[in-house]
Amino acid sequence: MEFSHGSNMGNDESSSSFSTGKSAQERGLSHVPESYVIPTSHDPNLHPETAKVPVVDLSGFRHGSAQRSLVIQDIKNACHRMGFFQIINHGISQSLMDGALSSAFGFFNLPTPEKMKLMSNDIHKPVRYGTSIKDEIDNIQFWRVFLKHYAHPLEDWIHSWPANPPYYREKMGNYCSEVRKLGIELMGAITESLGLGSAYSSDKMNEGMQVMAVNCYPPCPNPNVAVLGLPPHSDYSCLTIVLQSSPGLEIMDMEEGKWGIVPKLHGALQVHVGDHLEVLSNGLYKGVVHRAILNCEGTRISIASLMSLGFDEKMGAAKELVDEQHPKRYKESSFGDFLNFLSANDIGEGKAFIDTLKIIK
Ligand code: OGA
Ligand code: NI
Repeated sequence: MEFSHGSNMGNDESSSSFSTGKSAQERGLSHVPESYVIPTSHDPNLHPETAKVPVVDLSGFRHGSAQRSLVIQDIKNACHRMGFFQIINHGISQSLMDGALSSAFGFFNLPTPEKMKLMSNDIHKPVRYGTSIKDEIDNIQFWRVFLKHYAHPLEDWIHSWPANPPYYREKMGNYCSEVRKLGIELMGAITESLGLGSAYSSDKMNEGMQVMAVNCYPPCPNPNVAVLGLPPHSDYSCLTIVLQSSPGLEIMDMEEGKWGIVPKLHGALQVHVGDHLEVLSNGLYKGVVHRAILNCEGTRISIASLMSLGFDEKMGAAKELVDEQHPKRYKESSFGDFLNFLSANDIGEGKAFIDTLKIIK
């Protein structure tokens, strides 16, 4: 691909392509400031192990029922074992994915004043640019720059997305609608795998939210100190689908009790079980805990599409999955409740939304 994403460390501020003049990761600093160093309990491994990530081939998914049920069995195993899997033959073309990645690179390469137009620390803003998670508010900071924007219904939001680069709206918009369709199909497969039928959540998902987290991790000047791109967390969503330009996503393998990096698989997308699916499944499927690690060579981009119910629509355990042997394990909550949690808590210090929902710990 044609982007320039070589290291710009050591450049002076005016020539750094990430200079906003604010956070360290954008100023091209040659060292990592103290506020970015995380507690040693989160230490990233210098030589990350490869995670054992299930790969689900979706080519049989839209065919006859026999093939479809095999795919659903694979999805069920993956959700149950890991809360995470990679998908291939998912139907989203390479050119659509490359277009989304190049628009993201194009945006982050813009001059500072252009990006600053969208800068905000107000997590309720439907379109905003920022650094870390809540930079200048949270105690520990992360080596990330991001653009977040709502994406559904597309026509309601696309006009408030970045006007530059000029192809951003079209290319990112095309990717967003395709990945959303795929997400809703996968959600149908997942509810089917839970014995609830494929249409169980489709009306609410069709009316639901799609939040895009477009993440940029500039090269880190000193990977030997404990700095992360994003701290361990699970997503609030039902389902998150991630597209990444290079590896750097690590997941926690609960069975093995260790972190592993998600291996590169050309053309694949990554699917996360989110907190709201954990709730819906009454704990049968667990949201995957993941984090973003850094490298010193080049900029990494990831585009996460977080799909959930509507802003105020509460997600609760499916009543079909609750009985005397399996009492309800979680309180109901909405995307809006998650935002309130996020504004009051510091995820980098280990606070997790799902823990606030647990009735049975
Ligand atoms: C996220 C996230 C992972 C990545 O945006 O929630 O976990 O690889 N991103 O950037
Ligand atoms: Ni995440």
